[in-house]
Amino acid sequence: MTVPDFVQAKSEGRRLAMLTAYDFLTASILDAAGVDSLLVGDSLGMVVQGRESTLPVTLEQMIYHGEMVSRAAKRALVIVDLPFMTYQVSAKQAVRNAGRILKETGCAAVKLEGGEQQAKTIAALAACDLPVVAHVGMRPQSIRKYGRMSAIQRDEQQLLADAKAAEAAGAFAVVLELIPQSIAKQITEELSIPTIGIGAGPHCDGQVLVTPDMLGLSGFKPRFVKQYGDLQGAITSAATAYINDIRDGEFPAAEHSHD
Ligand code: KIV
Repeated sequence: MTVPDFVQAKSEGRRLAMLTAYDFLTASILDAAGVDSLLVGDSLGMVVQGRESTLPVTLEQMIYHGEMVSRAAKRALVIVDLPFMTYQVSAKQAVRNAGRILKETGCAAVKLEGGEQQAKTIAALAACDLPVVAHVGMRPQSIRKYGRMSAIQRDEQQLLADAKAAEAAGAFAVVLELIPQSIAKQITEELSIPTIGIGAGPHCDGQVLVTPDMLGLSGFKPRFVKQYGDLQGAITSAATAYINDIRDGEFPAAEHSHD
């Protein structure tokens, strides 16, 4: 899957399946399962590092995780998030940091939060042939400005303007997070690049979920997340069985031991 393949999926009416990944093993499994794209999201700050927001995530951490995921991906398009304050200062800063991500991880593209506000930066990245995905709607890196996630930008005209500005500036896809399905539908119809929704309804060209949420590992169960597994339950029963086996002297048994 290349960037042009990803874009072409829209004109061919093929829906795109994207999941987040942060490590080699999980990325290998998701890639072999046939996911179209793996997003190394800065959500890793919350689901991997256990922090309360994505703000503390560093460029070095994104490169560390992005490299493992890129190495695992045999087919999926790997996209790595530019974390907070690695692109907002200037277009020059964004180009330098996105360039490092592409060079040092082997990924195909970067993602940044913003539309109209980041149009110049998106254009600067595109001018250097650094493929870029924009992220509009609920933007977790803006949490300090808005105070709580649910207060982040729901003005419909602004959402449309953001998505259009991102496309005009050269983004090859747009993530739409937590926006009404009617406006996601309008954006999807008016853009020629793919829209990837999360909590944005069924009309987007593709969907993305945070993998530990959809696998039932994180315990985060908002309405927009469909649970496709119960890994928390599976890990708890495996760990409990292991603990009990040790306490009962059942493990290691003869077949697990060497003479
Ligand atoms: O960081 C992330 O995982 C994301 C997705 C929620 C789209 O940006």
